[in-house]
Amino acid sequence: MSERLLVALDVESGRRAYELATSLRDLAGGFKVGSRLFTLEGPALVRRLVDAGARVFLDLKFHDIPNTVAQAIESAVETGAWMINVHASGGTAMMRAAAAAGRDAAARLGRPQPLLIAVTVLTSMDEAALHDIGVERPVLDQITALARMTKAAGLAGVVASPRETASIRAACGDGFTIVTPGIRGASAGAERNDQSRTMGPAEAVRAGASYIVVGRPIIGAPDPRKAAETIVRELQGG
Ligand code: C5P
Repeated sequence: MSERLLVALDVESGRRAYELATSLRDLAGGFKVGSRLFTLEGPALVRRLVDAGARVFLDLKFHDIPNTVAQAIESAVETGAWMINVHASGGTAMMRAAAAAGRDAAARLGRPQPLLIAVTVLTSMDEAALHDIGVERPVLDQITALARMTKAAGLAGVVASPRETASIRAACGDGFTIVTPGIRGASAGAERNDQSRTMGPAEAVRAGASYIVVGRPIIGAPDPRKAAETIVRELQGG
């Protein structure tokens, strides 16, 4: 079992997601539900996973006016989600509203506070794409600036690619949560799919990741449990 391993449930049905989560529950620290699965299956699936004892990272990347994001966070807390994300580019006021809503909803419902994290710059965006939306500084500068802003707004951390993890760890300190996808190589297998900037599981943790998100190397493996066990062993240093 590794608390650090979050498995991305990027599958086509709630049934398959639930089967995977129950079979991997004693190995993984949590399960990521993204917009595809959520749009198909809704909060009922999140509640079902939570009721089965799983920690759920609700990856819906909220980005709206502060009041609307605050209400969305409140709803997410009601589903029992453990980790929730927003876009840092929604701004400081939006992130502060999200943080306050997370605290208030958790207190009202008698639940632990959710881990609220932010997406800084989508990894699909390069310098040219940032330029198109009026951002002139280099990608890594934009990412670290947004990570600092996230921390100052009172959120717990950010999602970051393996390439950015060390810079963010240096900029935001030890207590900051960094969630790193793009895990390939070593025990996570050689098949890269569409991921270009990758690191192995233990390597990503050494670079500063608090949690790693692994999808296809586990859920696409002929034996997902075995694939997860291999990664857990690597994370445990075995
Ligand atoms: O299958 P794979 O291990 O590539 O899955 C990684 C998961 O992390 C997917 O759900 C993907 O959408 C997500 N993700 C990512 N890169 C980012 C942010 C999220 O791969 N920059």
